[in-house]
Amino acid sequence: SIDAVGAREILDSRGNPTVEVEVALDDGTITRAAVPSGASTGAFEAVELRDGGTRYGGKGVTQAVDGVLDVIGPELVGYDAAEQRMVDQRLIDLDGTPDKSRLGANAILGVSLAVAKAAAESAGLPLFRYVGGPSAHLLPVPMMNILNGGAHADSNVDVQEFMIAPIGAATFAEALQVGTETYHALKSVLKKRGLATGLGDEGGFAPSLPSNRDALDLIVEAVQAAGYTVGTDIAFALDVAATEFHSDAGYAFEGKTLSSDDLIEYYRGLVDAYPIVSIEDPLSEEDWDGWVSMTEALGDRVQIVGDDLFVTNPTRLAEGIARGAANALLVKVNQIGTLTETLDAVNMAHRGGYRSMMSHRSGETEDTTIADLAVATDCGQIKTGAPARSERVAKYNQLLRIEEELDDAARYAGAAAFPRLAA
Ligand code: PGA
Ligand code: ZN
Repeated sequence: SIDAVGAREILDSRGNPTVEVEVALDDGTITRAAVPSGASTGAFEAVELRDGGTRYGGKGVTQAVDGVLDVIGPELVGYDAAEQRMVDQRLIDLDGTPDKSRLGANAILGVSLAVAKAAAESAGLPLFRYVGGPSAHLLPVPMMNILNGGAHADSNVDVQEFMIAPIGAATFAEALQVGTETYHALKSVLKKRGLATGLGDEGGFAPSLPSNRDALDLIVEAVQAAGYTVGTDIAFALDVAATEFHSDAGYAFEGKTLSSDDLIEYYRGLVDAYPIVSIEDPLSEEDWDGWVSMTEALGDRVQIVGDDLFVTNPTRLAEGIARGAANALLVKVNQIGTLTETLDAVNMAHRGGYRSMMSHRSGETEDTTIADLAVATDCGQIKTGAPARSERVAKYNQLLRIEEELDDAARYAGAAAFPRLAA
């Protein structure tokens, strides 16, 4: 059972404070979890508790840490760490608000994940097997974000993330190699053209480009320069993060103001021209009707992923499934704040015929929990940035370890992860 819960303020990959939690069990097990943080956060996400004031520009988390030490910790002593659902329900009740704003989703998530890790370690199981059970064996397609725009870069590219999906590989390790070689080739392509090769928050390059299509053309060139075939070895995926450029006037895109229908026609053109298998947040988090139109227009050809729309929240996802908005769920543990609610959202998605993609945040730490969760939930896809910056690479490296541990039982999800290719 749980003996003690500790917490401290550490830094994330943007140099902003975040919460790290340690859980000690009475059998001597001690585990640690750290909490990520977004930049293009959805309005409906669970709330991070930040100190305000001038320290760290108001982003300190000492109140969240104190909440773990003074409120949560003493309450959890004596709980069986294996009773994750009971522990998480206690955390939800202790907070008492619908958006976890009193104790902070950052405090609550740190405890929830550290408890799961402690229970796994105490049971002598790797986290993916403890959470996913004995049949968990599917390695996800790494959706590698190699060109960053939007809120993650100081450039004029509207689309936040241009991702490559190495669908043709036989193993996760090979997929990582193919994607990484393409990433290196993209750097050469950019250099040759005199374009900037500085990195965005998720490790992708962040050049200024005349249009979003130019980004896709550069990636096509990079895939070919690396010796791979566009469409069969590598497919493309986008996270548009359209909430970021939406206002009452419409969508401010490439210097014009577009309606939802205009934007959907733009996406149709992209899907016709490039081997795009997945588009995340093509429309704003408020534009339910646009999402339904988008899903009717393109849902049989591409995966349409709700991130800001669903915020890993079972209530919003249920509404989406009922309306026919999107056909896949983006899964971010800190959007909802407990492991149990995260797993509930993934299960609801899969039962409703939706796919799911495990995801990091743009602000990350060395914590690799999501790599294990991707295998545990059988979701077949993970996005955790470019093969650069250690907080991104840490997750890919953990997946290499999991694949090695599974040995002959491991399967790489590959093309079957996407509707356009699975058909
Ligand atoms: P965020 O970006 O972590 O800044 O929200 C990631 C995403 O939009 O998927
Ligand atoms: Zn997103």
